[in-house]
Amino acid sequence: MLIPPRSSTSNPNKTPSAPRSSTTSTASSTTANTSSALRSANSNNVSVYDNVTLEEGVFCGPSMVFTNVYNPRSLIERKSEYRDTLVKRGATLGANCTIVCGITIGEFAFIGAGAVINKDVKPYALMVGVPARQIGWMSEHGEQMPLPLEGEGSYTCPHSGQVYHLQRDRIATDP
Ligand SMILES: CC(C)(COP(=O)(O)OP(=O)(O)OC[C@H]1O[C@@H](n2cnc3c(N)ncnc32)[C@H](O)[C@@H]1OP(=O)(O)O)[C@@H](O)C(=O)NCCC(=O)NCCS
Repeated sequence: MLIPPRSSTSNPNKTPSAPRSSTTSTASSTTANTSSALRSANSNNVSVYDNVTLEEGVFCGPSMVFTNVYNPRSLIERKSEYRDTLVKRGATLGANCTIVCGITIGEFAFIGAGAVINKDVKPYALMVGVPARQIGWMSEHGEQMPLPLEGEGSYTCPHSGQVYHLQRDRIATDP
């Protein structure tokens, strides 16, 4: 069952659309039961709008923001112009970050607190800043991996034994 927001402000604008789900619980303790947010953890004050898809295991930090209209204007109806946002399995969206619509965030990517994401994010990439830039790679365990942004190399997670391979500018894992 979804918990209704404690307070809501009336929005005279046509956009963005009403949230499909929102939670106000203590950080990281609530599961959003939308069809596209199965077993994802939503912290407090997060709204999941139409055209936002969260795969399994996505963590939404407190007060992070999704969008679904790229260029909103109060007096112009833009419901037919919603842009899709896809957050892939296991990704973390840090507190207070903003996800500009129309992008894909790769599996197990990690978005630092306060970042503004306006471009696609590679799997396992660690992104911080406004606009966000990649500063490293994050393991599935949630620790930065000692690998350069580009090149060749491998890293074994001391917690899980998972092996990561850097191939040019992408991370691949052993099956
Ligand atoms: C990204 C994060 C996990 C830190 O990872 P880390 O591997 O320990 O990285 P470091 O702290 O060593 O930082 C590396 C560099 O990135 C910078 N940095 C780290 N997080 C940043 C952020 N959110 N925004 C901007 N810069 C950031 C650091 O200042 C540092 O810069 P420097 O090399 O110039 O000193 C952490 O800062 C973060 O944002 N966590 C999210 C917390 C959150 O939202 N939790 C929600 C549930 S309560």
